[in-house]
Amino acid sequence: MNKSDFRRHRRLRRTPSIRNIVRETHLHKEDFIYPIFVKDGMNIKNEVQSMPGVYQWSLDRLDEEVDEVVSLGIESIILFGVPAEKDDVGSSAYDHNGIVQQATRQVKEKYPHLTVIADTCLCQFTDHGHCGVVRDGEIVNDDSLTLLAKTAVSQAEAGADIIAPSNMMDGFVTAIRQGLDEAGFENIPIMSYAVKYASAFYGPFRDAAHSSPKSGDRKTYQMDPANRLEALREAESDVAEGADFLIVKPALSYLDIIRDVKERHPYPIVAYNVSGEYSMIKGAALNGWINEKEVVLEKLLSMKRAGADIILTYFAKDAVKWLNEN
Ligand code: PBG
Repeated sequence: MNKSDFRRHRRLRRTPSIRNIVRETHLHKEDFIYPIFVKDGMNIKNEVQSMPGVYQWSLDRLDEEVDEVVSLGIESIILFGVPAEKDDVGSSAYDHNGIVQQATRQVKEKYPHLTVIADTCLCQFTDHGHCGVVRDGEIVNDDSLTLLAKTAVSQAEAGADIIAPSNMMDGFVTAIRQGLDEAGFENIPIMSYAVKYASAFYGPFRDAAHSSPKSGDRKTYQMDPANRLEALREAESDVAEGADFLIVKPALSYLDIIRDVKERHPYPIVAYNVSGEYSMIKGAALNGWINEKEVVLEKLLSMKRAGADIILTYFAKDAVKWLNEN
């Protein structure tokens, strides 16, 4: 065999420092958004049973979590509310003293430079558990938009830096943008859950946020996992409506979609590494079946390699600790 007949790819893998200099993708602590569940009540630090290491926090104990996040150098959090009261229109979502509004004010007061993102949806706040208004068993699109815009405005009033609507009603970006602009919040960006699939990987989140639909499912508003072109249409309309960031959710089974959206839209792309993706790895790690650190860093890297600029992940704190070790 003539030695010049093949390429020696291993040359670039020979030493750690050569591997470092040719590495194409990197994780940084600035890439991460850490989700926090805030719950009405006192002295609550409840571990979510299906998400070891993730807790629901009451406001009087929330600082324990936020202090750690800040000390690790994580610069963004997203708040999910678990309210005491639910009703058919989700009024605790847009209550001035709702749990997310109170938590936002509290966190921004202590840490003005921490980016606080508010998830804008109704499902945690409605007694039926759907993301919009329900009438005769239907999730009514346009009436839901009014309430979602109201929710976004009240979150911005509380000091949220970014509004992240996850409800998947049609036109939510337009409605929320108009609502924010009319209220004087034209500088508050919208991080749209533009491409959100009807995924079984949200199961553990629904335990954490008590947001499972009491009847039916979310398939008339969240997307069919089989569809790729539909994701492109969803992203396109959100861009046209004024979204500033595009979320693809879930992340791991949808890396192709992250790539598609990234290639077509010159906007920051967010991979939402969802609850079920967290729980699978945690479960295996707690059984000693995988090396948690290596598996987590590898999968977070895969999201960036696919095209994500930002990763929303329950592993954010762990990842930053591990990156600091390396
Ligand atoms: C609310 C919302 C959900 C998630 C984020 N926002 C649940 C759902 O759509 O049922 C899921 C996040 C996760 O699984 O980590 N609509």
